[in-house]
Amino acid sequence: MKGIVFFGAGNISQSIIIGLINNGFEKKDISFIDRNPLNNKIIKKMGIKPIDIRQLTKNNHHIILAVKPKDAIQACNEIALINNKPNLISVVAGIQIKTIKSAFKAPTIVRAMPITSSAYNKGITAIYGNPGSKDLMNYSKKVFDKVGISLFLKKENEIDNFTGLIGSGPAYFFHILKVYEKRVLQLSNGDKKLTNKIISTFLDGVSASVKDNVGFDEAIKKIASKKGTTEAGINSLISNNVLELFEKGILSAIKRSKEISDEY
Ligand SMILES: NC(=O)c1ccc[n+]([C@@H]2O[C@H](COP(=O)([O-])OP(=O)(O)OC[C@H]3O[C@@H](n4cnc5c(N)ncnc54)[C@H](OP(=O)(O)O)[C@@H]3O)[C@@H](O)[C@H]2O)c1
Repeated sequence: MKGIVFFGAGNISQSIIIGLINNGFEKKDISFIDRNPLNNKIIKKMGIKPIDIRQLTKNNHHIILAVKPKDAIQACNEIALINNKPNLISVVAGIQIKTIKSAFKAPTIVRAMPITSSAYNKGITAIYGNPGSKDLMNYSKKVFDKVGISLFLKKENEIDNFTGLIGSGPAYFFHILKVYEKRVLQLSNGDKKLTNKIISTFLDGVSASVKDNVGFDEAIKKIASKKGTTEAGINSLISNNVLELFEKGILSAIKRSKEISDEY
């Protein structure tokens, strides 16, 4: 696996780069192009070298396009001026292959939707490519499997569902965890380190049950007893439609991902 260039080196690129380095990917095989001085500083500190866009002429590398949707067309136009047949893996939410394709003469394009947990080897990445991009799809899978797990999607529009559900997913849980943080902080006399340790151990335990294939209802049954505290908590969550509202939030994210596709 040689030569990955991150075009756009912000949040998601940094997460993937940290994951790749921690999993034995050679730093010398990673480079980046980014206009933001702070992101330049952060990535250089990781031992990753910036390159000049003019170095994209040869086709001995793969480009990961990781700029915001509003900047994606402009970024593709800049790349196209130097290389009209790039091997390009776009992680940009909402922008379809046909739109990216139109900036180039003969590109090979794959879309991938990673998550920031890639930094901790807990990435989950969805990959989609048109027939004809099999080699690049397989290459993408090798890269993203290094930082977690990945799956191929059958249809491009499934990326919108994946984005709303998994791509944005960690943020929903961080949002919910704010309730835990507030209350655990009180129990631990404001000790932030202890609070984080309690919450991460708690989540590890939940994750271990899922890994153990314990069904969710079965797992709840093991904790709740008739007229006990858990039952009171769960009943309150049910009567307040918390699950429906949570799903509504996910559906809003999926809707937004589809809207972005229509905007570009
Ligand atoms: N963050 C996530 O969890 C996540 C997950 C999955 C997919 N994505 C997708 O990944 C993409 C990037 O997200 P992000 O959160 O990493 O964004 P970000 O932190 O804003 O990083 C994007 C970087 O690209 C730079 N850039 C934009 N256009 C450029 C150009 N023409 N030449 C050089 N550098 C350029 C930006 O510079 P400026 O700051 O100067 O604009 C910025 O440093 C988005 O399309 C998003 O949908 C993100």
